[in-house]
Amino acid sequence: MSESTELEGRRFPAPEQLAGQANVGPDVYERAAQDRLGFWAEAAERLTWAQRWDEVLDWSNPPFAKWFVGGKLNVAYNCVDRHVEAGHGEQVAYHWEGEPGDTRTITYAQLKDEVCKAANALVELGVQAGDRVAIYMPMIPEAVVAMLACARIGAVHMVVFGGFSSDALASRITDSGAVLVVTADGGYRRGSPSALKPAVDEAVGRTDSVRNVLVVRRTEQDVAWTEGRDLWWQDVVDRQSTEHTAEAFDAEHPLYIMYTSGTTASPKGILHTSGGYLTQVAYTHWASFDLKPDTDVFWTSADIGWVTGHSYIVYGPLANRATSVMYEGTPETPHRGRWFELIEKYRVTIMYTAPTVIRTFMKWGEDIPAGFDLTSLRLLGSVGEPINPEAWLWYHKNIGGGRCPIVDTWWQTETGAHMINPLPGVTSLKPGSAQTPFPGISAKVVDDEGNELGDDTTGLLVLTEPWPSMLRTIWGDDDRYVDTYWSRFGKQVYFAGDGAKKDADGDIWLLGRVDDVMNVSGHRISTTEVESSLVAHPAVAEAAVVGASDPTTGQGIVAFVILRGSAEDSGDDLVKELRQHVRKDIGPIASPRQIMVVQELPKTRSGKIMRRLLRDIAENRELGDVTTLTDSSVMGLIKDKLPAGS
Ligand code: WT7
Repeated sequence: MSESTELEGRRFPAPEQLAGQANVGPDVYERAAQDRLGFWAEAAERLTWAQRWDEVLDWSNPPFAKWFVGGKLNVAYNCVDRHVEAGHGEQVAYHWEGEPGDTRTITYAQLKDEVCKAANALVELGVQAGDRVAIYMPMIPEAVVAMLACARIGAVHMVVFGGFSSDALASRITDSGAVLVVTADGGYRRGSPSALKPAVDEAVGRTDSVRNVLVVRRTEQDVAWTEGRDLWWQDVVDRQSTEHTAEAFDAEHPLYIMYTSGTTASPKGILHTSGGYLTQVAYTHWASFDLKPDTDVFWTSADIGWVTGHSYIVYGPLANRATSVMYEGTPETPHRGRWFELIEKYRVTIMYTAPTVIRTFMKWGEDIPAGFDLTSLRLLGSVGEPINPEAWLWYHKNIGGGRCPIVDTWWQTETGAHMINPLPGVTSLKPGSAQTPFPGISAKVVDDEGNELGDDTTGLLVLTEPWPSMLRTIWGDDDRYVDTYWSRFGKQVYFAGDGAKKDADGDIWLLGRVDDVMNVSGHRISTTEVESSLVAHPAVAEAAVVGASDPTTGQGIVAFVILRGSAEDSGDDLVKELRQHVRKDIGPIASPRQIMVVQELPKTRSGKIMRRLLRDIAENRELGDVTTLTDSSVMGLIKDKLPAGS
């Protein structure tokens, strides 16, 4: 019997001790079901408001929501100052560890000083409330400080993952109209300094909104310098006063923009605002992970360049006065036990990571975690893609020592915070399923017409009520916001883009994207974006990209390209060049695992590329139905071109 069959029907009840002291008990579901808005208002009361709201939700103009209408607060004050004022200034906010092994311990009092200094520096540089600030940084404390400094003065941060290319950075700067870029000379990755400043120089050179570039000195690499524009963080921020009075902003004041891939070539700027976002990230962080601020050590392994980093390294943990671990580098540097070493060193109690990492650890073998003391752990989390039962079980046994519940959290950049997940002190866990909508969240599985489906029928996941941390729009494009998320089933129903089913117990299983979006190592990449990068290369006439299932990364990118006449027969070197081209264009994560040069692409009579058939090929499957193809011999031609054995 395979492990997955053996696992079917297996349940992992909430550990008694945890259940007895859990932050939330079973009654929370009923409370939220009876009075959803009252429930979220109570969650909002965990924050400190300068002015209370008049109305919890204004949904009079769907899909444009306003939460906590009339309320005012300062997000940075909620994350930092109020804990210092309450006497917790000496508590550690971050145990930071650089990849080379250098460390910094940052208390809440120190964080408050740093954020105030950075806020004063931003003001000195002319940044005003509502201005956009791009942040392109390694995983160093200044990244958090820069985000909070923006929040403190009401500027809108727009963090771009440091692994993205200068092109990707440039298009995001242009779309958001950023006036300042905060960056570093570089960061440490896989054992060596990796430069960031050159990409900023290239990107800023092609945009016209940026006035200044503020550079943190981290690696001491040589950097090119544009006098008058570029400034060292250490020169400008360090000399500022540690006093800065935080102004209260409207609950709907924009907090940040985070770009994410959609079904077209241009990424969408997801806009999050202040009061509702902070309410839901703080509440979910506290309830989903049972966070106890006085005793827990919390670690989210994501990068700050993704929404997981925003919500569960920065805003949720800080709003809850958590002590967190923050790590700069990769899991295998300088050795494959690096993460376990950190868990042991900082006595981490709650670990939040992605299935792709777990599968990598599985490949490396259980002897590695077995060599470290992981007994401090009491709870584990998962995010980014469905966690397959085998990985779940391995995580549970080899990292969690068989005692830690695994909280599998389904959510998206757009949702801002957890939406579907078990509660660790309540739910009996089912490996592979995200199980239950979070209290106060309404999720359904529907068919193409929007009818709710019965048990075990595969359909589409929709959210049928607005929620506090929902995106408010796509930056600068309200129409695209409506079209993408709120038009398939009307303006009251959010279409998530994920396939799902409900089982006989009512538990939800997520089944991956139903649109042309791939999920590679928990990162969202658009097939169209990679295709348009490929066709921008002079040798490529046409391209089709699919996500093929991959044992480690979830999906891998496979591209089929038709070459221009002159480029035919250029062979392996060209394939290498194309992969390099996509790397440079979008970033290493978007570089195809495999590129196949073909003569034709399968198309329907209306000219749509049939990706389903290409996926069959990429995954070595028997071909599905080819009858709607214009020319069914095309598939034979493609198969003939493949290397033997595929
Ligand atoms: C997409 C969102 C949420 C932060 C990380 C990714 C997939 C995410 C799960 C999960 C099944 C999941 C979905 C979703 N996804 N978490 N626990 N189980 N699928 O954020 O880049 O906005 O991607 O990731 O397909 O739509 P994102």
